[in-house]
Amino acid sequence: MYRADPMIYGFLIFWVVLGLAVFFVAMRGGPRGARGPLHTESKAGQRAVMVVVAVVFAFGLIVPALVLAFNGANKASVAVGGIHLNAEQQHGRVLFSESCAVCHTLAASNSEGHVGPNLDVRLGSQIPTEAGRKALVLSAIAEGRARGLGQMPALLYQGKDAESIADFVAAVAGH
Ligand code: HEC
Repeated sequence: MYRADPMIYGFLIFWVVLGLAVFFVAMRGGPRGARGPLHTESKAGQRAVMVVVAVVFAFGLIVPALVLAFNGANKASVAVGGIHLNAEQQHGRVLFSESCAVCHTLAASNSEGHVGPNLDVRLGSQIPTEAGRKALVLSAIAEGRARGLGQMPALLYQGKDAESIADFVAAVAGH
């Protein structure tokens, strides 16, 4: 599952401390201390202090939220073995789990299909180059397969979708 980055706590603590500092300075009548503690009389001064506190508080929420969102987005692009997936390959991962995973085992997609060959073995161990793996996947999708090991329908995908799947499988097979 998701592991919170210690940086987020750093941000939170930083902004909370800053917010409290501003609050106490305000309570003491401003940095100059001209007015006595707890006797802030100027309405404009009070309003300015409220604005500063509100801005600091908003930052305290927004910064961690952005960090969380950014980390979440990053995580979607990380596959097994620390491989970084681009947007195309992430799309391919979704399509693979929808239509290929029922028949094929592929560790990176957590699939355990036994109708067709295990792709970690067939591609990862037997085809040394990523380009070679991609070409084989594309040909399997385009032509289908019926070479005595079972039936794989042709043209489950075409065009960019087929490319995305082939990119994804070629990058992760065997990892
Ligand atoms: C209905 C089950 C089924 C589905 C769905 C399926 N396959 Fe297959 N696939 C097979 C079978 C069975 C074989 C082996 C056929 C043979 O060689 O006789 C195979 C073979 C393959 C091969 C190896 C080809 C080779 O020449 O060694 C690849 C790569 C492959 N499939 C990729 C995919 C991808 C990608 C998808 C999703 C678009 C997919 N398969 C969907 C059953 C399936």
